[in-house]
Amino acid sequence: MRNFTCVNDIGNIKEAVKKAEYVKKNPFADNLLGKNRTMLLIFFNSSLRTRLSTQKAALNLGMNAIVLDINQGAWKLETELGVVMDGDKPEHLLEAIPVMGSYCDIIGVRSFARFESKEDDYSEKILNQFIKYSGRPVVSMEAATRHPLQSFADLITIEEYKKRERPKVVLTWAPHPKPLPQAVPNSFVEWMKATDYEFVITHPHGYELSPEFTNGCTIEYDQKKAFEGADFIYAKNWSAYNDPDYGKVISMDKSWTVDKEKMELTNNGYFMHCLPVRRNMIVTDEVIDSPNSIVIPEAANRVVSAQTVLKEILLNL
Ligand code: CP
Repeated sequence: MRNFTCVNDIGNIKEAVKKAEYVKKNPFADNLLGKNRTMLLIFFNSSLRTRLSTQKAALNLGMNAIVLDINQGAWKLETELGVVMDGDKPEHLLEAIPVMGSYCDIIGVRSFARFESKEDDYSEKILNQFIKYSGRPVVSMEAATRHPLQSFADLITIEEYKKRERPKVVLTWAPHPKPLPQAVPNSFVEWMKATDYEFVITHPHGYELSPEFTNGCTIEYDQKKAFEGADFIYAKNWSAYNDPDYGKVISMDKSWTVDKEKMELTNNGYFMHCLPVRRNMIVTDEVIDSPNSIVIPEAANRVVSAQTVLKEILLNL
């Protein structure tokens, strides 16, 4: 593996889960693999889990980790090509990226969708500039359209908790007051499609995700019907994908909040969410505080997914 930006980069998904199980059982077995190597983690957006779990994974592998918040202490970066830089951005990504690459062996990048242009977001403009100009392996720590470290951790968690070989997994939209990117649901769909699970997506009309991701998936507009017999409920909010509403909140329908009544339709199903989560918008306190909520072990598995990926990259350096 050179770069890690989507499910295809992980190779065989069953083998990847086995590698993750080994990493989880033996977190310090490879603590010399990254000796004298440096990982640089670049954040254009806020983070709690990704920041801490990816650093922890790098440290477990013996790497040094440097974290840079672009919006706190770095020069404001111009990202457009061919512009006259007479505004408030004194440095261009075209210099900043190779400079950052010169200080490290692996770069992690977090850069969300900006909702200024669907074309720019879905062409992964920022992430691809890092891949093109850094000269280093690049790990997506959530880009405009995907969050693969999260999805890999989600898959590891489902494999740990599943009670039957082919569990029923439901991705459900839930309400949120602010427009959120489609990266987590897109990515979750992509990873679930790589498994042989029974997989259903449920959301209100108008919240269809890009067909690039959902092609071939079962989409059920009746949330309660979708929940019937489910082993895992994966809740997430996302903003509209389709034009003219791209990047907008078109509904905050609280009847889509995951509550106890809906969870009772499931096969004693587990509740999952990538976090951070807005309680009593996405999910009721009663559900997220119940024994069937596995959001904390899911977040803990972010170290495992990151360490498995970084180990593969180090082995190929
Ligand atoms: N789930 C996730 O990526 O969390 P952070 O945004 O806190 O990193």
